[in-house]
Amino acid sequence: MKGVIFNLFEEVVGRCHGEDTWDALLEAAELTGSYTSLGSYSDDEMGKLVRAASDMLVMPEGEVLRWFGREAMPILAKRYPGFFTAHTSARSFVLSVNRIIHPEVRKIYAGADVPIFDFQGAPDGALLMGYQSARKLCALAEGFIEGSAQYYGERVKFEHLECMHHGHAKCLFRLSFVSGRASIGVAA
Ligand code: HEM
Repeated sequence: MKGVIFNLFEEVVGRCHGEDTWDALLEAAELTGSYTSLGSYSDDEMGKLVRAASDMLVMPEGEVLRWFGREAMPILAKRYPGFFTAHTSARSFVLSVNRIIHPEVRKIYAGADVPIFDFQGAPDGALLMGYQSARKLCALAEGFIEGSAQYYGERVKFEHLECMHHGHAKCLFRLSFVSGRASIGVAA
């Protein structure tokens, strides 16, 4: 996993819980924490940090990832405004992740290994979104989607219809975006 994701996690932890908490997480995970944005680090290191955060903040690991993704979005919006200003709604933004955002990410961060998403419109206007990645970070994807809804002043009803953690070949989300601020999650 690219160092930029570790840098983002450090920023989110620091903003919400203070720099000391990040240092404590590194210590608990027995990691040195010198991550450069362009460097590549083992997925296992992220796993250890998420587990340490789960223990320290008394949150399930999935909630840690979801919180991280949600809080990371405004930071990404400041750093990469063009990805966001090209859209006026979260639905259109999310639809661009596979075609535009992540391909660009792969140009900026050599060796980035981004997930595969697929999309289908549901008859009632909801968006069916498939997620495939050996990392099985669907909770992070959920957080990113919630964070993008917040960015556009919307809320999203997130239904996790199928999940790789429950033996499915890929995750399947049903997203319904509406105007407003709160978001509602429905687990698989
Ligand atoms: C709703 C929008 C987005 C979703 C759902 C999403 C989802 C994800 C997920 C779940 C991962 C974890 C890797 C995996 O699952 O295998 C990931 C990786 C990544 N994403 Fe996104 N992402 C979004 C937008 C963005 C944006 C705006 C950026 C900013 C440039 C970005 C940059 C990255 C980077 C750098 C990685 C790490 C790749 C690696 O370590 O090899 N993503 N994304």
